[in-house]
Amino acid sequence: MVRVTSLLLQIAVTASVANAQLGGFFKNAFGGAIAQVPLVKQAPETVVAAKSQQLTSENWKSSVNVTIDENASEEDIQEWLLYFTTHPTNGTAQRNVTYWDAVYNDTVVTASKSSPKTRFGKIDCFLADSKDLCHSFFLTNNIPTFYHVATYYQNASVEIRRVPMYRNVTELNEQPAFMSKFLSEKEWKEIAPWTGIFHPFTGAAKGIAPLAGQALVYYEMVPQWVFMIGISLIGRTITSRIVGRNLATLDSPAAAAAPAPAAAPAQ
Ligand SMILES: *[C@@H]1O[C@H](CO)[C@@H](O)[C@H](O)[C@H]1NC(C)=O
Ligand SMILES: *[C@@H]1O[C@H](CO)[C@@H](O)[C@H](O)[C@H]1NC(C)=O
Ligand SMILES: *[C@@H]1O[C@H](CO)[C@@H](O)[C@H](O)[C@H]1NC(C)=O
Ligand SMILES: *[C@@H]1O[C@H](CO)[C@@H](O)[C@H](O)[C@H]1NC(C)=O
Ligand SMILES: *[C@@H]1O[C@H](CO)[C@@H](O)[C@H](O)[C@H]1NC(C)=O
Ligand SMILES: *[C@@H]1O[C@H](CO)[C@@H](O)[C@H](O)[C@H]1NC(C)=O
Ligand SMILES: *[C@@H]1O[C@H](CO)[C@@H](O)[C@H](O)[C@H]1NC(C)=O
Repeated sequence: MVRVTSLLLQIAVTASVANAQLGGFFKNAFGGAIAQVPLVKQAPETVVAAKSQQLTSENWKSSVNVTIDENASEEDIQEWLLYFTTHPTNGTAQRNVTYWDAVYNDTVVTASKSSPKTRFGKIDCFLADSKDLCHSFFLTNNIPTFYHVATYYQNASVEIRRVPMYRNVTELNEQPAFMSKFLSEKEWKEIAPWTGIFHPFTGAAKGIAPLAGQALVYYEMVPQWVFMIGISLIGRTITSRIVGRNLATLDSPAAAAAPAPAAAPAQ
């Protein structure tokens, strides 16, 4: 009984230490620590409503696709800025949905002036008709986020790029300005497009991407400390088996009273 209690205590300590150490890491790795400056002005909602289109799992591919034009030049592309968001009350989003929704609205107003041909698509991952699309992009709690899509009229090939979230915000409304410049200066060309088996248009495994994305959602729903307990239990079982075997051969009361090996902390 004493052993069980001390085992649980050790697990609890290991788990909370790991949580404290890794919590910040995960937060930073997924961009949770991006600076946020309050937006003062509210984008005119009628402009946003007119320029922004609601994309769903059903309509997004036909929306970003183009009809091939043999005579088109390499520069002839159709561009989309995709904004993936969710409902502000949904606890799965790591970033401030209210804030980024306002950044998106402001970006639509600003960027539609400097890049009049760019189209703006909003995807609400909270809605059932967009879930597959969000899972295809492996968006679980790493929302809100932006993607840039360029489709060449020459060959209808689709390039998808993740838009970096600007971290160096010191001025009001700097986020929408960053997004607008990203589009008007074609800064997206400096970013490598998405390739690989899960590419929604060309990937060999594009059909199972929504399922893989869903699996990732379940994985992320399991708190990190559960994995830590799993690791420490496995480590403990293995070490106590080895130690147990050695102790059995000694067969002395002093050896039997030897303290249990410490659970291996996951570093
Ligand atoms: C953004 O614009 C949409 C459409 O006009 C509007 O419904 C929404 O409330 C706006 N969101 C914010 C945060 O301003
Ligand atoms: C995109 O449009 C082209 C024709 O312009 C068509 O051949 C292709 O199948 C379409 N792609 C998708 C994924 O719908
Ligand atoms: C491309 O250009 C050629 C020569 O100017 C013309 O004959 C042809 O119809 C054009 N094709 C398309 C799809 O516009
Ligand atoms: C489509 O055309 C663009 C522009 O010429 C080119 O960069 C790209 O590699 C082409 N994609 C494919 C699949 O041929
Ligand atoms: C948040 O969204 C997820 C998936 O989009 C859903 O399963 C969950 O029930 C939502 N949570 C709340 C509190 O609305
Ligand atoms: C999210 O952003 C909104 C608008 O900028 C702000 O009012 C709110 O306090 C923020 N919430 C959190 C939890 O930071
Ligand atoms: C961040 O902003 C400061 C002040 O404007 C500037 O000196 C610095 O170079 C910027 N850093 C990056 C990475 O853009």
